[in-house]
Amino acid sequence: MSSKRIQISPSILSADMARLAEQAQLVERAGADLLHVDVMDGRFVPNLTVGLPVVRALAGCCSLPLDVHLMIVEPDRWVEQFAAAGAAIVTVQAEATFHLYRTLQSIRQAGARPAVALNPATPPAAIEPVLDQVDMVLVMTVEPGFGGQAFLPGMLPKIEQLAGLCQKRGLTVDIQVDGGINTAVAGPVARAGANILVAGTAIFGAEDPAAAVSQLRRSAGNEVS
Ligand code: DX5
Ligand code: ZN
Repeated sequence: MSSKRIQISPSILSADMARLAEQAQLVERAGADLLHVDVMDGRFVPNLTVGLPVVRALAGCCSLPLDVHLMIVEPDRWVEQFAAAGAAIVTVQAEATFHLYRTLQSIRQAGARPAVALNPATPPAAIEPVLDQVDMVLVMTVEPGFGGQAFLPGMLPKIEQLAGLCQKRGLTVDIQVDGGINTAVAGPVARAGANILVAGTAIFGAEDPAAAVSQLRRSAGNEVS
């Protein structure tokens, strides 16, 4: 299991968008560590969501660090603007940029923490040369694009492989998982080496989203903070 503290990053994709500020403040009070914002462009993934104005608005109404997941083509055109809009972490998909090293550097130069996401079919080896340039690797545990999909158990060995790579190189990189995360899979992903859990449906789809944050953390093997 990862020795790092488990962090919970609720995904606003499943929140009530008409009450976004309220929903963000609710999970903040419930002890969430980050707020996950899924930006989709209808090209990298077959769905459209939110962009810069929503990131700016969230930065102005909640104190959680914004964990911005860019599921867009040519992310290098946008990363600086997302950092300026208030993103604490900017994650780009490894498959979406030809110049990943440079894109990650631009994120850090813009004052945000650089992170890279791997689609289910992309192996950790694809980012091995830039592992020392990132603060976090996001292992997608569904195909990106939509909330409410089922967790892909085949991603567990990939998380272990990535955790092993980081350990071997003495790198303290956070490992985030995103897609189908609920109380049933929180334990297995944490034991495989993930320490940041993104959850949309399991939190905002729950009757009591605040309780769901604590339940996820407990299921991952950490006591409620
Ligand atoms: C999916 C997004 C996820 C999504 C997860 O492409 O990247 O962040 O919100 O939703 P759940 O937790 O419902 O699978
Ligand atoms: Zn996401």
